[in-house]
Amino acid sequence: MASTVLILFASLLAPFLFFLPGVDADTSSNVFSVQSYGAHGDGQHDDTKALGDTWSAACSSAKPAVVLIPKGKKYLTKHTTLFGPCKSSIMFMVKGTLVASPERSDWSKETIRHWILISGVTALTVTGGGTIDGNGMIWWQNSCKTNSKLPCTEAPTALTFLSCKNLKVENLKVVDSQQIQISVEDCTDVKVSRVSITAPETSPNTDGIHITRSRDVQVMDCTIKTGDDCMSIEDGTDNLYVKNIVCGPGHGISIGSLGDHNSEAHVNNVTIDTVRLYGTTNGARIKTWQGGKGSAKNIVFQNMIMNNVRNPIIIDQNYCDSSTPCKQQKSAVEVSNVLFKNIQGTSASEETIMLHCSSSVPCHGVTLENIKLTLKAGSSDAKSTCQNAEWKKFGSVSPQPCGFKN
Ligand SMILES: *[C@@H]1O[C@H](CO)[C@@H](O)[C@H](O)[C@H]1NC(C)=O
Repeated sequence: MASTVLILFASLLAPFLFFLPGVDADTSSNVFSVQSYGAHGDGQHDDTKALGDTWSAACSSAKPAVVLIPKGKKYLTKHTTLFGPCKSSIMFMVKGTLVASPERSDWSKETIRHWILISGVTALTVTGGGTIDGNGMIWWQNSCKTNSKLPCTEAPTALTFLSCKNLKVENLKVVDSQQIQISVEDCTDVKVSRVSITAPETSPNTDGIHITRSRDVQVMDCTIKTGDDCMSIEDGTDNLYVKNIVCGPGHGISIGSLGDHNSEAHVNNVTIDTVRLYGTTNGARIKTWQGGKGSAKNIVFQNMIMNNVRNPIIIDQNYCDSSTPCKQQKSAVEVSNVLFKNIQGTSASEETIMLHCSSSVPCHGVTLENIKLTLKAGSSDAKSTCQNAEWKKFGSVSPQPCGFKN
C-alpha cells in the first residue's frame, strides 16, 4: 500500500524533477569535486588552491559543470577569487562547509574586502544546502565598533558576486561572516532564495544581503539574523523584489545609506513584501546623508509584522554615521513615491513613524496605508514625527501620523 502511494507520488512528480537543481541529467555527469583537486577537507589545511583549480577546470568545461564541495567535510580557504567567463553554465554545489581562515594576516591590503569573490560569471547557480562559514570572530574582536581604542580597518565580505548575470543563490547557509555576509554588485537577473544567514547580534557591520548597482533582483524566503542591516539596498538598485523574509536580530531592512560624501545615488522600483522583524533597531527604513544627489523612488514596503522593533517606519534624510557631527547641507537624495502599507505590530520606542526629510529637498508622494503600531510596553502612547514630508494616508493609520487632525 505504502509503496503504491509512493510510486504514484513519484510518477506525479517525475515531470517536475527535471527542473530541480542537481538532478539535471546534463550536469550530473560533469562533476568537478574539490576532493579530486587535492583538497584536504579537514578544516585545518589550506584548500584555497584546490578550490581555485577545481573552479578553473569546471569553468573551462564546454558543457554545464558542477563544482562540488562534498558533504561532511570542511574546506579551509583564504581569500579566494573565482572568475568567469566560463564556457558553459556552472553549478557551485556546496554540500559541505567552506570555512574562512581565522588568520587576519592571510589578507593583504589588496584582498581585505573579500573572502570568496565570484566575478564575471553568467548562468551560475550556488546551492547544495551546505555552509559558508566566515569564521568572523577575530575580525569582530578587532573592529573599532567593538573596541573604540582600535583603529578602524576593513574586513572581508564573506560572499561577493560581482558582475554576474543570470545568477541563482539558493538553499545555502551563510554564518559568522567577517563583515557583509552576501554582497551582490553590478549584477543583473539575480534570484536569491532559501538562504539562511546567521551572525551574532553583537557582530559589527555584518549586513545580511547587500545589493548595489544591480537590476532585476529577487530575494525570497530568507531568514537573516545579524548584527547590522538585515538587507542593505544601495545605490544603483533597480527593479528589486523582496518577499517572505524573517529578520532579527539586526538593524532591519534599509534602503541606503545613500549620498554619503556628496555622492549621487539612484534607487528605483523596490518592493519589500511580507517581512517579519524581531527585535530589530529599524523596520522599514530609508536613510540618506545630507549633501547627496539623485533619487530614491517608487518604493513599496508592505505586509510587514514588527515585533518589538525600535523604529518600525523611518525615513531619515539626516543620516550621520560619523564620529564628527554632519553639517547642514543644501542638496540631498530626493525621496519620492514611497508606500508603507499593511504594517502592524509592536514598537520598542514611542516614535513608531518617523518621516524626517530634508529641508532643502522635501520627501513627496509618501503614502501610509493600513498601519497599526503599538508600544511593546504600554506605559505611553505610540507617536509619529515628521519634518518636511508631504504625505497622505489611506485606511486606518495608527498612531495618527504627524499631528494629523480629523
Ligand atoms: C519593477 O520591478 C519589478 C520586479 O520587482 C518588475 O516586474 C517591474 O516590471 C518593474 N517595473 C518597471 C516599471 O520597470
